Amino acid sequence: MITRRKALKALGISSLGASTGLVMPSLATAQAVSDQGNPLRIPQLAEGELTNNSRQFQLRLQRGSRNFFADTATATFGINGDYLGPTLRFRRNEAVSLHIQNGLGEPTTLHWHGFHLPTSADGGPHDVIAIGDTWNPQFTVVQFAGTFWYHSHMLNTAGEQVYKGLAGMIIVEDDEQQIELPSAYGVDDIPLLIQDRRFNDDGSFQYMSTYEDTVVGMRGDVILVNGTRQPYFVPTTKLVRFRLLNAANARTFVFAFSDGREFQQIASDGGCLETAVTMNQLELSPAERAEIVVDFSDGQDVRLISVGKVSNFPEFPGAMSVMMRSLNTQNFDILDIRGQGRLQDSAPVPDRLASIYRLPEAAATNTRTFRLSMGAGMRSGDDRGPGTGSRNGNGGGHGGGNFSINGRRMDMNYINERIQFNTTEIWELTNNSPMMHPFHVHNGQFQVLDRNGQQPPANEMGWKDTVRVGSGELVRIIMRFTDFVDEKNPYMYHCHVLEHEDRGMMGQFLIVE
Ligand code: C2O
Ligand code: CU
Ligand code: CU
Repeated sequence: MITRRKALKALGISSLGASTGLVMPSLATAQAVSDQGNPLRIPQLAEGELTNNSRQFQLRLQRGSRNFFADTATATFGINGDYLGPTLRFRRNEAVSLHIQNGLGEPTTLHWHGFHLPTSADGGPHDVIAIGDTWNPQFTVVQFAGTFWYHSHMLNTAGEQVYKGLAGMIIVEDDEQQIELPSAYGVDDIPLLIQDRRFNDDGSFQYMSTYEDTVVGMRGDVILVNGTRQPYFVPTTKLVRFRLLNAANARTFVFAFSDGREFQQIASDGGCLETAVTMNQLELSPAERAEIVVDFSDGQDVRLISVGKVSNFPEFPGAMSVMMRSLNTQNFDILDIRGQGRLQDSAPVPDRLASIYRLPEAAATNTRTFRLSMGAGMRSGDDRGPGTGSRNGNGGGHGGGNFSINGRRMDMNYINERIQFNTTEIWELTNNSPMMHPFHVHNGQFQVLDRNGQQPPANEMGWKDTVRVGSGELVRIIMRFTDFVDEKNPYMYHCHVLEHEDRGMMGQFLIVE
């Protein structure tokens, strides 16, 4: 569908100019939204207030409205603001107390993604904050310095709530970390919370309007970075650290620069890698994070982009093949970098960033298997009956949206796994569905042992809480289950394509004595 806005854009006319009778957008004020680029918003940094030995954060979940486009307002959800939330800064070994007030007019939860914490503070689907209620979780931050996030985890509606804006970044700092990295927030340490969204002509968010949305998850054609459409960033230092957070509901990005320049990945989900990994492309699925350091000392204009993937999915009749073959093949502009001639010097990235104790396979006392499956659209559109024939594609599902793990859909009253307290386990993740699923485990960080028997790439050798499991892949992860015995209240594991999670691709585990 060609909207008026897109038609104008195709003609090179900004909709702002058109609606005010001006042809040139140069008269736009700083606040106005332009199709020629908008300064990247930097979410407000919330450091909390230290009282009673605990850092107190006040978060109000509320409805709002944001002009992503000059001529239309979008109804949104936000946290202390109209869309998304502040960046929370935690310190390792400090206690945090969060005071969350639900002013949304619908029930929700708030989950601290990537944190090792008691179930009572996790913010999963059992920790519902009723309309008008407040919730006050507390926990001690034991994570390494790194980039985390928080978002709605409401059963069945997490996807829609995050889509509307219920998410934010968390930065953990560690006073004992000795290395020097760019770390001036908003100056050379830049949060990039990246999302794709689709809009209706009236400016409202479009959510779940096609069959494809229900199968592969909700994806859009408009990129928002920290809630900014068509953002640009002007560096002031030679090196810039970007904290990349794929906060999309379903889309995988392959980040690169338009001139192919190399950059260094310094951290994965759970903190620094042992040494920086030099690369020119970086794939991140929903919920994965990476910190990268980029050198802009050449002063050139360059663009952070996402490169479409080449699909090798087989061609066969029906909607499934078409859907899968086009999945994540699109290119996107993510962020324009406006080159500057005079830049402040930056210290070089240290050779050694961290030392990571690799959990030995021999430490594991139990192995579990998790089989990721989806039934929806496994066969072509005209064949909906049960069966095992060739038209069932390579999924062998039942049709009709059976997103499951080990053949079970999420059931709040069913505990899928009981894990012995203080043990190490290997989880074998398999995927007999036609698409990749980012598998996430609550309560901390794991390590990737191998992918299809091969040692993972260098940037997957650090701490992770979300891992891509491609179609047909076997990914083995290893994790320790310590500290928080709770015979009643479970943690979650799930696919982080939020529409898959919402439709059942989630399970629960207890840590028991
Ligand atoms: Cu980022 Cu269970 O969630
Ligand atoms: Cu999580
Ligand atoms: Cu999935």
